[in-house]
Amino acid sequence: MNTARSTPNIAFIKYWGNRSEELRLPMAPSLSMTLDQPTVEITVEEAETFAVRSFLTDGSEKALKEKDISRFRKVITRMQQYLETIGADCALPASIAITVRSHIPPAIGLASSAAVFSCLAKAVSGFVAPTLKLSPKQESILARLGSGSAARSIYGGFSSLEEGSGLELGSAWSEQIADERHWLLYDIVVVPAMEEKKVGSTEGHALASTSPFYKDRIEAIRSRRQKECIDAILSKDFEKLQRVTEEDCLDMHHVMETSTPPLHYLNEETHRIVNAIRALRTKEHIPVLFTMDAGPTVHLVCPEEAKNAVLSFAKAQKGCTIFETKVGPGASLIE
Ligand code: PMV
Repeated sequence: MNTARSTPNIAFIKYWGNRSEELRLPMAPSLSMTLDQPTVEITVEEAETFAVRSFLTDGSEKALKEKDISRFRKVITRMQQYLETIGADCALPASIAITVRSHIPPAIGLASSAAVFSCLAKAVSGFVAPTLKLSPKQESILARLGSGSAARSIYGGFSSLEEGSGLELGSAWSEQIADERHWLLYDIVVVPAMEEKKVGSTEGHALASTSPFYKDRIEAIRSRRQKECIDAILSKDFEKLQRVTEEDCLDMHHVMETSTPPLHYLNEETHRIVNAIRALRTKEHIPVLFTMDAGPTVHLVCPEEAKNAVLSFAKAQKGCTIFETKVGPGASLIE
């Protein structure tokens, strides 16, 4: 029996679109900061039949949809196939039981798939360790098979999902750019709406290439943005990080909104909060950046000196749920 713990991450350069939907091989590199919370814990153990159970913070069991269970089943099959390619055949038994304990409050609107699949990868890695000790790179490949962004949560601090090349199971992985002690950044999460996303990111990725702006987006990331973001992080240049992160976020939403069919993840409240933070920044020169993933939630990332001002701004947003996080250590085995 092996139990791991992991957390979500917030992307500065967004992963949107695949060169293989089936294998979740990204079209371009991406980059994120791993958060210290909320946490997810997953136990993997040998069982007679495949099973997945999920429990909420209060200990109550969450009824999983057939669609969720089959995603787990498919991911485990893919993980087994990948393990075979690296010489760990049969390291994972044919049937396993997966127990998920999520501390992600349902109202937070923080994507849980990155936390869940990085956690599953780490637990699986613990399971196969007696046969083969996996490297973080190999663990990130396992995580990617569940959700592309999950590959980045294997590491603490700041990490990239590399584009890689080829169409094999192991053709794209994550790398750490700097660990969690490098730069203390906070992510004050402002959640304006509680409705569930209509189109999940798995289906969303498949639409990316229908936008006439997608090609330019990929080109901009490959040729410039990813590098600018890495430089900003390594030199702790917040202004540079702000510029490239906001540019990339708005560009991703432009691609989403111009795809066929269009995907509108942001709502009026998102735009209102973004305009208000821009106004505050101009007026008070506070170092803070905004970014949004596939939902209306606004992430306000800032260094320590701006934390209190950003928190008071967030708390003043009527009807919003606020969640305070900071850069975190990434996935780990706990038992
Ligand atoms: O890992 P997925 O398939 O859930 O995709 C994540 C997509 C975004 O959150 C919008 C961007 C990102 O890089 O995290």
